[in-house]
Amino acid sequence: VKRIGVLTSGGDAPGMNAAIRSVVRTAMHMGIECLGVRRGFNGLITGDIIPMDFVQTSGLIAHGGTTLFTARSEEFRTEEGRRKAAATCKLFGLDGIVGIGGDGTYRGLMEFCNQEGVAVVGMPGTIDNDIACTDYTIGYDTACNTALDSIDKLKDTMQSHERCSVVEVMGRHAGHLALYVGMACGATAVLIPEKEIDFERDVVEPIRAARLGGRTHFMVIVAEGVGSSYDVAAKIRDATGLDPRVTVLGHVQRGGSPSARDRMVATYMGYNAVHLLAQGKSNRVVAYKDGEYVDFDINEALAMRKGIDENAYRVLRALTGVAAE
Ligand code: F6P
Repeated sequence: VKRIGVLTSGGDAPGMNAAIRSVVRTAMHMGIECLGVRRGFNGLITGDIIPMDFVQTSGLIAHGGTTLFTARSEEFRTEEGRRKAAATCKLFGLDGIVGIGGDGTYRGLMEFCNQEGVAVVGMPGTIDNDIACTDYTIGYDTACNTALDSIDKLKDTMQSHERCSVVEVMGRHAGHLALYVGMACGATAVLIPEKEIDFERDVVEPIRAARLGGRTHFMVIVAEGVGSSYDVAAKIRDATGLDPRVTVLGHVQRGGSPSARDRMVATYMGYNAVHLLAQGKSNRVVAYKDGEYVDFDINEALAMRKGIDENAYRVLRALTGVAAE
């Protein structure tokens, strides 16, 4: 392996830059040249490729976002698009690609590898922590802390005005972020898409229990995938007479300087990804599972399913006044 490319694809996540830095510097250490492919798979199609070196990755570990830009490429989903991308690899002499992103990125890498025979390795980067093969995805910790910071601030004003707050956190298909943040902020109730919602049991009763316990402000966390947080607020209004305020945290959760944990995981994973390519391996994803850094075949990884942390859910409900079943 002489020369590889690194790209970020899909939604960005804090720590992606740390991952790029790790890939570039590990490659340099091993005598492999590493080029930066910009704008996700689109950059492979159009040849939007830049040299990466020590200077270019200097200071990158602390920066949010991704210096290589990111995109969701429609064209790469087509055979024609992937053929163009393979031509770019041939022209630039790229023997392998490291792609940092979510399941969509893995699917793209796998199809590219199957169709064009280019060696690929994926790295998990998403704030949603919804990639089944890994217990942890780069960006999750920072996003949790960013959300928590905002929620703590909201709690101050909710306490002053004795109000109910409904906060929507990201997670189009997954409630990991909502569950984690909900536990960490001491929420009154948490709604996630993985669990069927009984509004009376899961929201009204916990608010009532908190009120009976002497509390006069309430925090309801809603994962984006559950539906409109404005509808949740309206239902709370109807059921309790409270006048909730809605805050949609949105993309602020995707930004910011990565936490120590995200920098560390990104660094280890980048190191491992380059080693896999150097060993001649392909169609692999690096992962963190049961306390260890491991790797899986991409097909195998995509077939895996990840549930929410049931233990966390049990503890959360115990602490929010939901009666044991
Ligand atoms: O990165 C995943 C995610 O954060 C989802 O939770 C969210 O729904 C989505 O990105 C929104 O991304 P975009 O606005 O970039 O399409």
